[in-house]
Amino acid sequence: MSFIEWDESFVLNIELIDIQHRKLVNYINEFYDHIKEDKSDAFKKLLDNLTEYTEKHFKYEENYFEKFNYPDSEEHIKEHQVFIDKIKALKSKLDSGQLVITPEITMFLRDWLVNHVKGSDKKYSGFFIKKGLK
Ligand code: FEO
Repeated sequence: MSFIEWDESFVLNIELIDIQHRKLVNYINEFYDHIKEDKSDAFKKLLDNLTEYTEKHFKYEENYFEKFNYPDSEEHIKEHQVFIDKIKALKSKLDSGQLVITPEITMFLRDWLVNHVKGSDKKYSGFFIKKGLK
């Protein structure tokens, strides 16, 4: 069983965004799988990948916020920024040896992603679909 099990409750019915969310879920599952090995180099690489992919994904959503004039974009973009700041801070601490990856950190990543996708992202899905996004 995976750390995060992908199921219908994640699905927004917007194909490319669902693919991106699934990839983010996979990154966090990979992160969790590495906990048992406790290899800081692997965590650094995984955190880099997660940060890079998350930033791309957020930009993808935010482009549509702008294009469609999404009314709740300001609040949503703030949530994105807080998460990016958090994972960059984790990476910085990891690089300087001030941080050991713990299950609590992976739980934070999981909880943030699950709540964000099933909460904030779900809120825009109907709006995007009405604008013609599939
Ligand atoms: Fe899918 Fe708002 O992140």
